[in-house]
Amino acid sequence: MAREFSTVGVVGLGTMGAGIVEVFARNGIDVVAVEISAPALERGRATLKGSTDRAVAKGKLAEADRDALHERVHFAVGLDALHSVDLVIEAVPEHLDLKQRIFAELDRVCRPETILATNTSSLSVTEISVATSRPNQVIGIHFFNPAPVMRLVEVVRTVVTAPEVVADVEALCARLGKVDVTINDRAGFIANALLFGYLNHAVAMFESHYATREDIDAAMKLGCGLPMGPLALMDLIGLDTAYEILDTMYRRGGRDRRHAPVPLLKQMVTAGLLGRKSGRGFYTYERPGAPVVVPDEATPPATDAALADGARAIAKVGVVGSGTMATGIIEVFAKAGYEVVSVTRGMEKSAKVCEAVKTSLNKGVVRGKLAEADRDAALGRISWSATLDHLADVDLVVEAVVEELSVKKALFASLDEICKPGVVLATTTSSLPVIDVAMATQRPADVVGLHFFNPAPVMPLVEVVRTIRTSPEATATARAVCAALGKTGVVCGDRSGFIVNALLFPYLNDAVKMLEASYSTADDIDHAMKLGCGYPMGPFELLDVVGLDVSLAIQRELYLELREPGFAPAPLLEHLVTAGYLGRKTRRGFRDHSHR
Ligand SMILES: NC(=O)c1ccc[n+]([C@@H]2O[C@H](COP(=O)([O-])OP(=O)(O)OC[C@H]3O[C@@H](n4cnc5c(N)ncnc54)[C@H](O)[C@@H]3O)[C@@H](O)[C@H]2O)c1
Repeated sequence: MAREFSTVGVVGLGTMGAGIVEVFARNGIDVVAVEISAPALERGRATLKGSTDRAVAKGKLAEADRDALHERVHFAVGLDALHSVDLVIEAVPEHLDLKQRIFAELDRVCRPETILATNTSSLSVTEISVATSRPNQVIGIHFFNPAPVMRLVEVVRTVVTAPEVVADVEALCARLGKVDVTINDRAGFIANALLFGYLNHAVAMFESHYATREDIDAAMKLGCGLPMGPLALMDLIGLDTAYEILDTMYRRGGRDRRHAPVPLLKQMVTAGLLGRKSGRGFYTYERPGAPVVVPDEATPPATDAALADGARAIAKVGVVGSGTMATGIIEVFAKAGYEVVSVTRGMEKSAKVCEAVKTSLNKGVVRGKLAEADRDAALGRISWSATLDHLADVDLVVEAVVEELSVKKALFASLDEICKPGVVLATTTSSLPVIDVAMATQRPADVVGLHFFNPAPVMPLVEVVRTIRTSPEATATARAVCAALGKTGVVCGDRSGFIVNALLFPYLNDAVKMLEASYSTADDIDHAMKLGCGYPMGPFELLDVVGLDVSLAIQRELYLELREPGFAPAPLLEHLVTAGYLGRKTRRGFRDHSHR
């Protein structure tokens, strides 16, 4: 029989604690909610009220249920109020000495059978437990932010946590409607171990002016389908908390440089820019605690203003190549009203591309997304050619040929001879340095990267890559073109992986390393990222879709360019590729897809 939890205590009513109180009270459990001072207690009470009022306004909670929920919560200053609860969850700031002091005090105040739990993200639950006389009744219960919304709970057992305590807490999670993964006590557990290197890397990109905050966030939302961008997520977590988590992970997790907090974080914390909770972090919020972002001095002007910024007029576009990307890009431009010249290496290839574009447009018609007349007009705007000379009068060329530097350089040298002056020359490369391609021409100022995502007609993101030679006009033109295509163009520097791949693949590689170390299973890791962070797919699902060979190649490029030891490809990834387990395309990758 699982233990009955009728009253629980929550210590600390900040970002996490207030949400945890709500989770318990919503599920019919009485809560004693304690804080360090009367003002902090009032803040916590106001957070709970704000959250439940919003739930009522959205129709997710009945007014009567909200009132009953509030009646279940008893607020108090100081730990003494916790003398008769069945379980305590501590959610105070991420400092080991503070948590140890609180646990020693809880040990004194609470009944001997009470379970003591910490919501720590990165500290050692074991080290916290030894501050008590009952380490076998101490456990980690790691909720995700916002606690009422995110379904995952990481249950962290130490080497001394009693098995029945683990079982009781797992049963409690089920009662709360949560999905739990039970794991050992390691820095960052599953989700944060995979998340924080990525978040810190995104902050480093921002700090080095590699891209703007809006572009970094848009890239990850639109390129990977994440619920929010990394900098907006840092603001939600709280920069002080994020700093402490990174610092602890750096020290506990083998001094991986990727966890050494980026200096900007410390500066922001010192300056009181803590994120949403203080009203200002990477973004500015309506007021402290509010989720609504308001414009500030760093907010970029609307895209229309880019036109005023020297963007050139583009009417006719050349697309070179006959693969998946070229086909999608031809469709995108033609649908958006541009005249398109498609150039392939032979009329046979042109016929195939033409067929593929037609098929794709027809699908749009069948699905009711495209009128027949618009399909015909789009097709009528495309001319098919097998010679580059037909690009003499276009305003923009998008190159999407094979991913080989020598081939691309030769092509750009030819374009340089054929195209009229002022043309913007764009490469869709996803891994080669754009500057190498640019320097094959006499006009590197006019060369940009336009990194479309696959499938181009569907994916809303384009990375606009400017090299150190790209002119502001060429960048502005590329950005304006993206907007005219109905896509979001994010501008970034010319570094391996641009924004999306540079942030995504090291995280996937880390997941493989975690699996390789037998810390958790592929299923639990996938669960953790989907239910704890709201990712549309877990890392192993995504690796199998992308292809393990493709992922390994990208990871190698990143490692070779940035020489970051933490980016070294996971040996397990290399072995799977060598064994021919490449993912869905070979019916086996991390999972067996032969029966699906
Ligand atoms: N922020 C997140 O996204 C997130 C997610 C999961 C877990 N966590 C973890 O949850 C814990 C709390 O983080 P947070 O972001 O909610 O911090 P926070 O700074 O928002 O809130 C901490 C609260 O603890 C209170 N407090 C401080 N000392 C206290 C004491 N002696 N007694 C009672 N209350 C005290 C503070 O007044 C404050 O309200 C940390 O261990 C953190 O790692 C945070």
